[in-house]
Amino acid sequence: MNKLINWVDERLPIVDAWNKHLAKYYAPKNFNVWYFFGSLAMLVLVNQLVTGIWLTMSYNPSAEGAFASVEYIMRDVEWGWLLRYLHSTGASAFFVVVYLHMFRGLMYGSYQKPRELIWIFGMLIYLVLMAEAFMGYLLPWGQMSYWGAQVIVNLFGAIPVIGEDLSLWIRGDYLISGITLNRFFALHVVALPIVLLGLVVLHILALHEVGSNNPDGIDIKKNKDENGVPKDGIPFHPYYTVHDLLGVAVFFFIFFIVVFYFPEMGGLFLEKPNFEPANNLNTPEHIAPVWYFTPFYAMLRAVTVDLFGLDAKFWGVVVMGAAIAILFVLPWLDKSPVRSIRYKGWMSKVALAVFVVSFIILGYLGIVPATEGRTIAAQILTVLYFLYFILMPFYTRMEKTKPVPERVTG
Ligand code: HEM
Repeated sequence: MNKLINWVDERLPIVDAWNKHLAKYYAPKNFNVWYFFGSLAMLVLVNQLVTGIWLTMSYNPSAEGAFASVEYIMRDVEWGWLLRYLHSTGASAFFVVVYLHMFRGLMYGSYQKPRELIWIFGMLIYLVLMAEAFMGYLLPWGQMSYWGAQVIVNLFGAIPVIGEDLSLWIRGDYLISGITLNRFFALHVVALPIVLLGLVVLHILALHEVGSNNPDGIDIKKNKDENGVPKDGIPFHPYYTVHDLLGVAVFFFIFFIVVFYFPEMGGLFLEKPNFEPANNLNTPEHIAPVWYFTPFYAMLRAVTVDLFGLDAKFWGVVVMGAAIAILFVLPWLDKSPVRSIRYKGWMSKVALAVFVVSFIILGYLGIVPATEGRTIAAQILTVLYFLYFILMPFYTRMEKTKPVPERVTG
């Protein structure tokens, strides 16, 4: 075995790579539960890839055959129902895990210098993940697949001058059709997964270059022993590889309860109208995207005024786009001398709490049909969402921070 390893190692530095990224990658010893979600995101990614490949073996990417082929997978393909539920539940689990992972970043200031690039790669992952989920949702060719895609692609039509041509170009037709289904299939199963994998590799490489942050937001590289090993660091392998297995066990426990007992999650993970085949002559009464998009959908609907000769729909798209774009510049908005929320002042704490509550309520408002009162609520919450970012340079400078300890606290 040693001989074989040596033979390979002389040609490809696997021992170096093992040491650099695992055995001699020193991670802070004070990781808490919030640090499980990165490895869990990788786990869910693998689940999506594996179950996706097997689904593709029996799925038919055509307007005539798609819906029936999904029913065939559910009823006739051996274990097909499990593959499909693992994949559909996996999509929602991906967003649950990624949202918690992002929240951890906000809490501990993990986006701050020198981790800006990790954050940017993360945001690109988030964008690609949204595109991946959106295109995947068209594939079962149910009513919500069809009309959801119709609504979202039509949004591009609101862009002045190029809008109409752009949405025509995306659809490949004058309305969502088998042609759209074919291209979404190609992008969903080949193009975007490759991009996603590449971005995850870059995300991890960027992380390992500067090292992980931690709940105290302290730079562990400042305190090294005589061998150059951070005093508050422990080797990722075996300590965190084993530690992460605990997260995997708990995650699987919850995940499989959902897969086996609540795969539709009351219409939240698999929406009711999607059990009917797509019909371009029959619009469902109420069109709503899957839960992970609904905060942004609520922001889109919250814009109701025409401005500068452009209609509300256009401004809705702008607001929705800005809500995501502003996250990219977060590392440059936070002017605090400390990283972690533990040592920031009360203003940062209130701002983060208001932001999270607004995002969750917006998510709810995006699921339910709009009423006048709900639209006003969505408008207020959209403003609160943006204030978290816009005011950040001010409150992070003004507030009194707590002294940061020399060494991690646990
Ligand atoms: C497929 C999706 C993703 C995967 C597989 C992934 C994977 C990981 C892993 C394994 C880590 C190290 C372990 C940990 O800190 O939990 C990490 C750290 C990090 N990720 Fe992600 N990530 C994903 C998406 C995102 C997104 C969407 C963002 C934010 C926009 C993000 C931001 C970060 C940051 C800032 C860190 C450093 C955290 C720290 O050191 O405190 N990641 N990621």
